[in-house]
Amino acid sequence: MLCCTSWEYIYSSSTTPHNSPQNAFVKGNYKKAKALHGRHQSKSNLRSCEQSLIVHIPGEALHLQRANKMQKLAIFRARLWLYRSFSSLSSNPLRVCVVGSGPAGFYTAEKMLKAHQQAQVDIIDRLPTPFGLVSSGVAPDHPETKIVINQFSRVAQHERCSFLGNVTLGSSISLSELRELYHVVVLAYGAESDRSLGIPGENLKGIHSAREFVWWYNGHPDGQNLDPDLKNTDTAVILGQGNVALDVARILLRPTAELATTDIASHALAALEESSIRVVYLVGRRGPAQAACTAKELREVLGIRNLDISIQESDLLLTPADEEELKSNRIHRRVYELLSKAVTSNPKDAGLNKRKLHFVFFRKPVSFLDSKDRPGHVSGVHFEKTVLEVVGPGKQIAIGAGEFEDIKCGMVLKSIGYKSVPVDGLPFDHQKGIVPNDRGRVLCDTSEPSVVEKGLYVCGWLKRGPSGIIATNLHCAEETVSSILEDLDQGELISSSALPKPGKDGLLQLLHDRNVRIVSFSDWEKIDSEEKRLGSSKNKPREKLATWEKLHKAISE
Ligand SMILES: Cc1cc2nc3c(=O)[nH]c(=O)nc-3n(C[C@H](O)[C@H](O)[C@H](O)COP(=O)(O)OP(=O)(O)OC[C@H]3O[C@@H](n4cnc5c(N)ncnc54)[C@H](O)[C@@H]3O)c2cc1C
Ligand SMILES: NC(=O)c1ccc[n+]([C@@H]2O[C@H](COP(=O)([O-])OP(=O)(O)OC[C@H]3O[C@@H](n4cnc5c(N)ncnc54)[C@H](OP(=O)(O)O)[C@@H]3O)[C@@H](O)[C@H]2O)c1
Repeated sequence: MLCCTSWEYIYSSSTTPHNSPQNAFVKGNYKKAKALHGRHQSKSNLRSCEQSLIVHIPGEALHLQRANKMQKLAIFRARLWLYRSFSSLSSNPLRVCVVGSGPAGFYTAEKMLKAHQQAQVDIIDRLPTPFGLVSSGVAPDHPETKIVINQFSRVAQHERCSFLGNVTLGSSISLSELRELYHVVVLAYGAESDRSLGIPGENLKGIHSAREFVWWYNGHPDGQNLDPDLKNTDTAVILGQGNVALDVARILLRPTAELATTDIASHALAALEESSIRVVYLVGRRGPAQAACTAKELREVLGIRNLDISIQESDLLLTPADEEELKSNRIHRRVYELLSKAVTSNPKDAGLNKRKLHFVFFRKPVSFLDSKDRPGHVSGVHFEKTVLEVVGPGKQIAIGAGEFEDIKCGMVLKSIGYKSVPVDGLPFDHQKGIVPNDRGRVLCDTSEPSVVEKGLYVCGWLKRGPSGIIATNLHCAEETVSSILEDLDQGELISSSALPKPGKDGLLQLLHDRNVRIVSFSDWEKIDSEEKRLGSSKNKPREKLATWEKLHKAISE
């Protein structure tokens, strides 16, 4: 009788070179393991491999050549057993849940599906629509950036992947429930709140975060009620000089005819068409050598038609510390050069109805001014002038210089960065605004030595903080997925991954019991085609369904 107990046993005493069946097995690539096993048998390893089966025939170690009919039958049965082992393993796949369907979520899913042939990946998102900030952050006049949606759609349509929209971690399902259902949970739910300034007057009407404003013009269903007042003022102040600040400045200042053929939400286009805002101040607490934007985005703003640019020449003077900083930062150097060129090339006369963009440096907001005519509404920002202080190599911070000035305005957009929010039971570093992690492995807390939360991982803005472009999340996902694979390899997840977990079936049951209406990828395709249909009549790529009701209606029709 043959008593070979498992595939691992056969290879347990052998070394595990890169292309060995065992290596492939551990990585979950059973097809490859089988193929390699076959190759081993058919080539030089035939004898040793079959011998290793035979040695487990109790009491006797026989050579295949001398094996009799019975023994050959035993070998055949061993092979059959191996095959069945693979089949049963594939019915007990590695259940992976990714929370968040932005770039970090989709890149994680894609890498996981490629790296682990038995991984079943479910992507949940609180919205009925996938793609995160690619859909609700990237500016409407940047259609080329959104092409990545095609790649993400192919991932969602993969036979081992599911998209489950309208499912919110923290309300539809708790983190502990999700961890019970899945072997691996990867949190990639981004940063859906805002950094605050913590200065007086921050709650006055007319002050919005850039995130809210972006959601509003991008048709996010939670952004529709913002209704910013663009009619009762001719001046807006934008705080911050990153790429988001440039996006919102461009949307305020670009001729609306150029926006009309984009996927901008129709309520936003209508409000912008009636906007009386002609002057925008883009205010940074540091200098032009530290501006957080990038050259391509700056060039685009500087190139807006019929826009007058104002920059104080004295702000462009560089200190030796600035020069040192610029030497080691090519992006900042390019931005500085563009700003310097803009001072010299821009005509100074603002023609009739011409719009104007002021780049203001070395000013930090101290408080917001309450309007006398419209109490409770912002009427300006009180700034303190700043000087820079060197705090480390290539690092200068702004400190108050004790001189103050006001800029009058009727609207303020705070573009000083996004902020992630924790869910119940999730370790969170409130100071950094991220989940404490070691290369994507969630740590129980920030203390040393670090203890890992088994089976829990993080990716994207929730892992690194709210910075980086779409592609940054690709590298971030590679790192997280390689941590998952390492943990599988090293047996860190073995005890749980060996046990079957309910995965999607369990999730569906639980959500059904809670009356959560799940939105599948094919439901999203209905929304997608309705949006495209509505857009085509207006010469737009799509007209976003910007309310929860409209989104749900499109699915049920
Ligand atoms: C305004 C703006 C414009 C940008 N423009 C560009 C650009 O032009 N080019 C570029 O390369 N990069 C751009 N970026 C950067 C890029 O969008 C980010 O790097 C990227 O989207 C971050 O990916 P993420 O997956 O971590 O987060 P997100 O894209 O925010 O995805 C998070 C997802 O999680 C979901 N979610 C949130 N909470 C929950 C919950 N509790 N349960 C379930 N799901 C949840 C959200 O609905 C969302 O779908 C822009 C960023 C912003 C803010
Ligand atoms: N087209 C694109 O590729 C694109 C478009 C949009 C966004 N993005 C990316 O998305 C990420 C997020 O962009 P972002 O603009 O939100 O963030 P960001 O690049 O970090 O810029 C934040 C800005 O806010 C300022 N700031 C922060 N705290 C402040 C405070 N307390 N008081 C005054 N000013 C303060 C910063 O000034 P300091 O420098 O002094 O801190 C900086 O100017 C970035 O990586 C960006 O490149 C890319």
